[in-house]
Amino acid sequence: MTMVDTRTDIPKTPTLPDAQTVTEVTHWTDRLFSFRVTRPASLRFRSGEFVMIGLMGDPDPKTGKQKPLLRAYSIASPSWDEELEFYSIKVQDGPLTSRLQHIRPGDQIILRPKPVGTLVHDALLPGRRLWFFATGTGIAPFASLIRDPQTYEDYDKVILTHTCREVKDLEYGRQLVETVRSDEMLRELIGDGLDKLVYYPTTTREESPRMGRITDLLRDGTVFRDLGIEDFGPETDRAMVCGSMGLNLDIKEILESHGLREGANSDPKEYVVEKAFVG
Ligand code: A2P
Repeated sequence: MTMVDTRTDIPKTPTLPDAQTVTEVTHWTDRLFSFRVTRPASLRFRSGEFVMIGLMGDPDPKTGKQKPLLRAYSIASPSWDEELEFYSIKVQDGPLTSRLQHIRPGDQIILRPKPVGTLVHDALLPGRRLWFFATGTGIAPFASLIRDPQTYEDYDKVILTHTCREVKDLEYGRQLVETVRSDEMLRELIGDGLDKLVYYPTTTREESPRMGRITDLLRDGTVFRDLGIEDFGPETDRAMVCGSMGLNLDIKEILESHGLREGANSDPKEYVVEKAFVG
C-alpha cells in the first residue's frame, strides 16, 4: 500500500522558526511513513546523527502562546543528499506523530539544525566487519550510513540486520537496499564497495524466509552460520545498534559476551548504541 505524495509547486515562504518545507511523503503501512524536507544550506552532519524536528503545538488555553513540539529523529538520508529524509512511526495518540503523519508536500516542519548522536564512524575503532542491528524505525540512521561512501572504505563487509513484526514493516529497508545496490550515482560514488553490503531481514509475527528476533538468531548461532562467519569478536567486528530499549539491552549483552566494548565519540571502541526514537 505504498503511497508516494510529491508536489512540485512548493511554496517557499517560511513562517515557523527553523522552518523546512516538506517535499515528499511516503506511507509504507498504516503505522509507518517516511518524508523528505528541504535541507538548511548551513546544515552539516555525520551519517547516523539525529536532529530535533516537529511542529508548532496547540496554543496554550490561557496565554494563547504556541510552543514547538519537538522529537529526536535520526536523519535517514546520507550527508551528500541535498534534502533530508526521515522515517517515522505513526502513533494515533502520540502528541507529535498523530499530527506529523498528516503532513503533505508544501507543508512546513520545524527542524533544529544541531545534529548529534553516537551512531557515527568516529565512535568505532577500525575493524573489518561492520554490523548494523535495527528493529522497527531503528533502521533510520543505517539508511543514512549504508549510503555513506566511508562505510565501504572502512570495512570489508557491512551487515544490516532488521527485525520487524511483519513483512510489510520491512519494506522501507528492503527497497532502500535494492536502490542502494542498483543506483548508478551511488555506484559511481562508492564503486564495487557496494557489493560488501549484506541485508539480513527477519520477522517475528509473520511467516517470512527468516523468522525470529535477531537476538535469538545471534545467540543460537543461526546468523553466523547463514553468513559463514566463524570468528565474530573484537578483533574483526564492529557494531551499531538502534532499536527498542529491549533490543538495545539484549544486543549489548550479546556483544559484550563476545568481548566487544561500548564506545563513544570521545572514546571509540567496538560498538555503539542509540535508542530508536518514538514520536
Ligand atoms: P517481537 O514481535 O518478538 O516483540 P515493536 O514493533 O514492538 O517496536 O518491535 C519491532 C520488532 O522488534 C519486533 O519484531 C519485535 O519482536 C522486536 N523486538 C522487540 N524487543 C526485542 C528484543 N529485546 N530483542 C530483539 N528483538 C526485539
